[in-house]
Amino acid sequence: MARRVAEWVNVTDDISIVARESGEVWFHSQSATKGRVDPFATPMAGTGAVGSTVGLLDGAISLAFSRIEQRLARPDLTIAGYIVALVGAYHTSVDTPRNLRRAAERFNKLGRPEVAAYLEERAREETGHDRLALKDLRALGLPAERLVANFFPEGIKPLCKRFDDLCAEDYPIGCIGYSYCLERIAALKQKTDIENVQALCPDGVDATRFLRSHSSLGSEAAHVDETIEFVASLPAKDRINVVQETYQSALIMAEGYNHELLKSETEMREEIEQALGEAIPYRHSLGPSGSQKYHVPAARAD
Ligand SMILES: [Fe+2]
Ligand SMILES: [Fe+2]
Repeated sequence: MARRVAEWVNVTDDISIVARESGEVWFHSQSATKGRVDPFATPMAGTGAVGSTVGLLDGAISLAFSRIEQRLARPDLTIAGYIVALVGAYHTSVDTPRNLRRAAERFNKLGRPEVAAYLEERAREETGHDRLALKDLRALGLPAERLVANFFPEGIKPLCKRFDDLCAEDYPIGCIGYSYCLERIAALKQKTDIENVQALCPDGVDATRFLRSHSSLGSEAAHVDETIEFVASLPAKDRINVVQETYQSALIMAEGYNHELLKSETEMREEIEQALGEAIPYRHSLGPSGSQKYHVPAARAD
């Protein structure tokens, strides 16, 4: 009996991601086969396995990010940048439960209760995450509701639109690829990333609720594992669709994040202050270690 050695998905006109169950992953270029038979030209049709599924999904993300690697912004962490990130986090999470339930409803109608159940579970798990971002903004002394109502970072808009559109499709399986992309990237955040943000904030101010929960320390790592297992259990056509959407979402995310991160701190501050209609109610000073600290005015609840 022939043993299935790999899974593969074509993600661009030329490139297929190939992954073995052992975890080995590579990018196969169709044009490089130079007239020989391309073994990956026909879509895969076999069953999935966890080892190869994770290879395909993570391969899709790294391939998408490699396309902008040369110009990937890696700015220093600033409080303005963190505020923009929190506003973006709010917008990417506020409609998630509603969107996932909409997709679940569709799968129930399509006679796919297992997909519907998975999406409903995700919707439950994601409920309230927008409020974590609002609490963090409030902890920084900002009028959180007013800020998010008046400020939708340009780089985040296409990402949110993508998810809205995917969940409204007649066959909305792609929304799993989008969610995987966001959660996988969030799960890369480590304890030191959280500590770096905390170092910007005054002692006793907790403005990292969203970040903690969307990091390797929070629920994201478990969500990622659950999604990999679920995707591996899907029929080949669905797995192909999910991996292709993971790639597309990662492209949109990479471009969008870059758009925001390439801005100077002054530009970010101006955008925030325009949305607030007032100056950011904080000032910087150098802390004992020489690091910039954020000074919160009076705690506010709006
Ligand atoms: Fe979340
Ligand atoms: Fe999550």
